[in-house]
Amino acid sequence: MEEPQKIGAVLVVGAGIGGMQASLDLANAGFKVYLVEKGPSLGGVMSQLDKTFPTNDCAMCTLSPRLVECGSHLNIEKLTYSEVQSMAGGPGAFKIQVRKKARSVDTAKCTGCGTCMSGCPVRNTIQVPEPAQELPSEESAAIIAVTDEIMERCGRDKQQLIRLLQEVNSRFNHLQPQALKRIADQLGLPMAEIYGTASFFKSFSLEPRGKHVIRVCMGTACHVRGAQRVLEELERRLDICTGQTTEDRLFTLDRVNCLGACALGPIIAVDEQFHGQMSPAKVPKLLDQYLEQESA
Ligand code: FES
Repeated sequence: MEEPQKIGAVLVVGAGIGGMQASLDLANAGFKVYLVEKGPSLGGVMSQLDKTFPTNDCAMCTLSPRLVECGSHLNIEKLTYSEVQSMAGGPGAFKIQVRKKARSVDTAKCTGCGTCMSGCPVRNTIQVPEPAQELPSEESAAIIAVTDEIMERCGRDKQQLIRLLQEVNSRFNHLQPQALKRIADQLGLPMAEIYGTASFFKSFSLEPRGKHVIRVCMGTACHVRGAQRVLEELERRLDICTGQTTEDRLFTLDRVNCLGACALGPIIAVDEQFHGQMSPAKVPKLLDQYLEQESA
């Protein structure tokens, strides 16, 4: 019997492990594949993982062969840093518009050496936020006194900038603008450089954080055991979305990818304390515990 003729092309959206495998299967079956990925490279979340649940397999060992094969397959056209804009038509005759974002890099010449980062103009044009409001002079003096004490302890040295920011972040629960201004003045650094460093690290916050930071693990092990429901219950009880802080500045709600205690999942951490085998029903009791501490 004659093989049916393969016609047309296939579009796969997302170049994570699933998208890559689907593209390879289709390309090997004779289809032309357009693989669209909104990130700048193939691999998706799996490329950021060390091990995978539940087998503890090395993530890169699973991913690398597919990356290489996808990267060099003649039937797969990679459209990275791109997004689907619109879709029209029906089965067999889809018309899809894809928006390709500017990379400002010649991908044919790029070797991934990273040298361009040191000359990147974006670092020098960082927007420095305006100080939120003028503080009363006593409050302002107290912030300067605390900042001076931190600088005395850590050293008035540009090399110590990250350590100084860590101290300010933990002392004020965020990078207090006046403290940053004091550091910039004392070290003779432009505010753009301070904010450039501050905004590079995820552990720093430019917004005031709550007294207690709740981190909900959304890693695979916790996710399959219902972490999403725990997160939703926390959002509902605290009346905030993930990443926000309650009005009374008591709680900030965050999500993380793995807290390193997968066997106890779903797990959440309140400050440094872990609470394992969480469920939506346990959320009110846990929050009450902290509210009682506060009122005491
Ligand atoms: S997935 Fe590892 S602690 Fe949640």
